[in-house]
Amino acid sequence: MRVLVVGGGGREHALAWKLARSARVTALYAAPGNPGIAEVAECVPVRADALDELVALVERERIDLTVVGPEVPLILGLADRLAARGRPVFGPTRLAAELEGSKVFAKRFFARHGIATARFETFEEPGAARDFVRALGGRAVVKADGFAAGKGAVVCDDVAAADRAIGDMLERRVFGEAGARVVVEERLEGEELSFFVLTDGERVCPLAAAQDHKAALDGDRGPNTGGMGAYSPAPVLDDALTRRILDTVIRPTVRGMAAEGRPYRGVLFAGLMLTAEGPKLLEYNARFGDPECQVLLARLADDLVPVCQAVAEGRGLPEALAWRREAAVCVVLASGGYPGSYKTGYPIAGLEAAAARPGVTLFHAGTAREDGRLVTGGGRVLGVTALGAGVPEAIAAAYAAVADVAFEGMHYRRDIGGRALARLGRDAP
Ligand code: AMP
Ligand code: GLY
Repeated sequence: MRVLVVGGGGREHALAWKLARSARVTALYAAPGNPGIAEVAECVPVRADALDELVALVERERIDLTVVGPEVPLILGLADRLAARGRPVFGPTRLAAELEGSKVFAKRFFARHGIATARFETFEEPGAARDFVRALGGRAVVKADGFAAGKGAVVCDDVAAADRAIGDMLERRVFGEAGARVVVEERLEGEELSFFVLTDGERVCPLAAAQDHKAALDGDRGPNTGGMGAYSPAPVLDDALTRRILDTVIRPTVRGMAAEGRPYRGVLFAGLMLTAEGPKLLEYNARFGDPECQVLLARLADDLVPVCQAVAEGRGLPEALAWRREAAVCVVLASGGYPGSYKTGYPIAGLEAAAARPGVTLFHAGTAREDGRLVTGGGRVLGVTALGAGVPEAIAAAYAAVADVAFEGMHYRRDIGGRALARLGRDAP
């Protein structure tokens, strides 16, 4: 099989790394890929949002399966374009990806299908939005309807903060048209949980539990990032909670999307809040989490190719997958200043030593080659991923490998997996 991975971050390196291990793959391409992906695939300089060029690439290279990593090409309709040409694609259609691409669609869909979510209303008019903030007592979350590169949700402590967020979106249009409509919702309290399933539009196959750490600094302080690390399994997700989420959130979603004529095929990534009243759905993403994907695929024992094919073709999806017994932990090494502004182009040392450690894989996220040298090229640079007998052992193995790597300004969290340790009643290694 000739396979293409769309994207060029740490998540896509993990996808390419796992696909490359399949005996069924005869040719593997990535667009645009990155220097890490180049070790296992042929990287083609086509951006993940350049739909015409991607379609041409799939035709030219006679690609049998396209695996889409990021949300942007899905929201733009890449899956529709490929499916229309009879080219199997792992990832939802444009209408299905609206679960991530439109907060207004998503929240109204949850309400239509009786899925527990924060109380909300949608607005185009700032005055009415501000009235609703007052009705909520100021503890509100203001969300731009459309795609805002992960910055479109503002969690507010008081009325003034919510008023400002509403003004930014509806009046000052800081997110452009993406902020022409907003959702204002009740701010929920509790522990956040991610839940991943694969679905072919009808059947549902839950993935292992994985959690990320969004805040930039230890102890969940500092600004939010795309994710500074992840671990799997996540002890918070036991069998009873898994069943409850499948029955009250995931299955109603998959059934509802099919019933509304937008069957969802791909990874469905639910962001939930575990409130005193039970799990409530915050949002869906139409893709794998990054860096959750890195720990999930490090643990996946099954071949990923037939699984992606089953999702793409809408038949043959198994009810469950086989996972390695070991835990996996991924520590993200970021550029100094990330998630704010940062410099790139710094040489990276120590990769060979780190990667030579047993059970350790280095997933490239923001790296680049300059005159043959590997240098930093983005905010999140590397995801140092390690397997261990349990979460504590995986943490120890990951941080031992982190100690091998160095670049100017490198920063990372020292407490990845700490929440799992706390639940297991274990001290940091
Ligand atoms: P979203 O863009 O919907 O994923 O929101 C981004 C982040 O904002 C989530 O991961 C939560 O940490 C937070 N968040 C979103 N909605 C709520 C809510 N209703 N209550 C509390 N926190 C929220
Ligand atoms: N790590 C969270 C995300 O990918 O959205």
